[in-house]
Amino acid sequence: MTANELRKKYIDFFVSRNHAEISGQSVIPENDPTVLFTTAGMHPLVPYLMGQDHPAGSRLTDYQKCIRTGDIESVGDSSHLTFFEMLGNWSLRDYFKEEALTMSYEFLTSAEYMGFDKEQLSVTVFAGDDEVPRDDEAANIWRKLGMPEDHIFFLAREDNWWGPAGKTGPCGPDSEMFIDTGKEACGPDCKPGCHCGKYFEIWNDVFMQYNKMEDGSYVPMERPCVDTGMGIERTITMLQGKKSVYETQLFQPIIKALEKLTAVTYGESEEKDISIRIISDHVKAATMIIGDPRGAKPSNLGQGYILRRLIRRAVRHGRKLGIENTFLSDLSKVVIEMYKDVYTELQEKTELILTELTLEEKQFDTTLKKGEHEFEKMLPNLLRNPKKIIPGRLAFKLYDTYGFPVELTEELAEESGMTVDRDGFDEAFKKHQEASKKGADKIFKGGLADHSIMTTRYHTATHLLHEALLLTLGEHVEQKGSNITEERLRFDFSHHEKMTTEELEKVQRIVNEQIKKAHPVTVKNMTVAEAKELGARALFSSKYGEQVKVYFIGDFSTEVCGGPHVENTSELGEFVIKKEQSSSRGVRRIKAILK
Ligand code: ALA
Repeated sequence: MTANELRKKYIDFFVSRNHAEISGQSVIPENDPTVLFTTAGMHPLVPYLMGQDHPAGSRLTDYQKCIRTGDIESVGDSSHLTFFEMLGNWSLRDYFKEEALTMSYEFLTSAEYMGFDKEQLSVTVFAGDDEVPRDDEAANIWRKLGMPEDHIFFLAREDNWWGPAGKTGPCGPDSEMFIDTGKEACGPDCKPGCHCGKYFEIWNDVFMQYNKMEDGSYVPMERPCVDTGMGIERTITMLQGKKSVYETQLFQPIIKALEKLTAVTYGESEEKDISIRIISDHVKAATMIIGDPRGAKPSNLGQGYILRRLIRRAVRHGRKLGIENTFLSDLSKVVIEMYKDVYTELQEKTELILTELTLEEKQFDTTLKKGEHEFEKMLPNLLRNPKKIIPGRLAFKLYDTYGFPVELTEELAEESGMTVDRDGFDEAFKKHQEASKKGADKIFKGGLADHSIMTTRYHTATHLLHEALLLTLGEHVEQKGSNITEERLRFDFSHHEKMTTEELEKVQRIVNEQIKKAHPVTVKNMTVAEAKELGARALFSSKYGEQVKVYFIGDFSTEVCGGPHVENTSELGEFVIKKEQSSSRGVRRIKAILK
């Protein structure tokens, strides 16, 4: 089964069970300052899982592009990926465990759909602890469906629990579905959740049935939700009977293209395979990040920084394989070809993707040369050191300032009869990683932007700002990103030069005039086609006939948006622009506050 067939079968199955198919969203989340990327299929649906009604109804299904960058350094083994796709079905206060698990089981085992052998399946359920009881309800449903007792495993919270967004909110036990790969058990305790590779997780049904309160207690919810996620790459690996996702059609075309560029064959040596896997994963992720409707460009901030790291790591491994010319765009073309029918934005953005990749690749080449030069300058001093050891902090400085990989420092050191203090480097690196993790790339575990009064106000102010920018600068202004916290809004938009003081004053004045007009904010559900007809502002990545919410701020602004918003602009107070700066090439950034 191909990924295209799997996507179709999944969606068809759930549509035939009265789910509405909705569009997956951008891989760069809007209005969520807690994460840089969409890291799970449920992420864009969090407001609805928290209680809002979804315009498409209470049973939803989709496929979603996801990026997880928490462990970039782990990519290279046979299973970690930065980019992956998730299929999902959701119940918003509609069906619960029985129906969810029954549908999952049917989809997995029915010959018409995935046709997995029942014997191959194992499931896990929450074992319970001091705070929340064991999930016997889920276990009993599995028994009723015919799951043998020795295929049902009770696991602790770290394996079978989906936590709330922030400190409080909806959360609950989950039940995960595993395929037995047939591999020998690694020991008597080998069971689903063990990392030896015998059991392969492909699907997770989360039962959001508790509300975690301020005092840490869990209160059962009256109308719980279900959130499920099936990993396309993992499932395809199992369906195609492969050992690793890199052996499937989701990676083979990229790997084949890479083999043509080098004299290397996949499977030849583990060291080279690592480089091949890193390059193919990173090129795919980088293509998806640049080619997203809210796409980012390489930079030193946020998504752009992650993108830069991915590109540089791929280039470095390209060098290791002996590639001397630019090569990322050649591989990216293969990725675009593979995904362009599913994610049509890749077709529209092909040129941009290829240009940005090549630009960054060339720039990194210059950086590498600079680093080499810097190293040579340091050399006489270093050679005076009797132990011939390069201190870790110097190796880290080369890495941090010049993007100079420590492996290259080691190679150069070796040529001069020296070694690098790797422990010292690792320590400096770890410190840096912890600091940047805290700042930027927080892993999403059910996390979402909070919907406090302040963030809601900033949300509405963002719509006013967007419209004021269009009026002041022209119709070329397109929203490129939005990020809201309790303290400020941040809005990125396409515009090629620094805004003048007059322009900034004008934008600020327009927004404040509109706030004073005390416009009511109203919302209507309609199809994308109707919203377009009305001239609503939107990133039209949604399907044409799909239901969306359109927010009207008086007659000033009409925008497709998930909300929430204030009821009247008079609630906003005074709007003040604090900063206007460049965000990346051709994109400006405004930070503003409400007083
Ligand atoms: N949100 C759940 C997951 O990503 C389904 O595993």
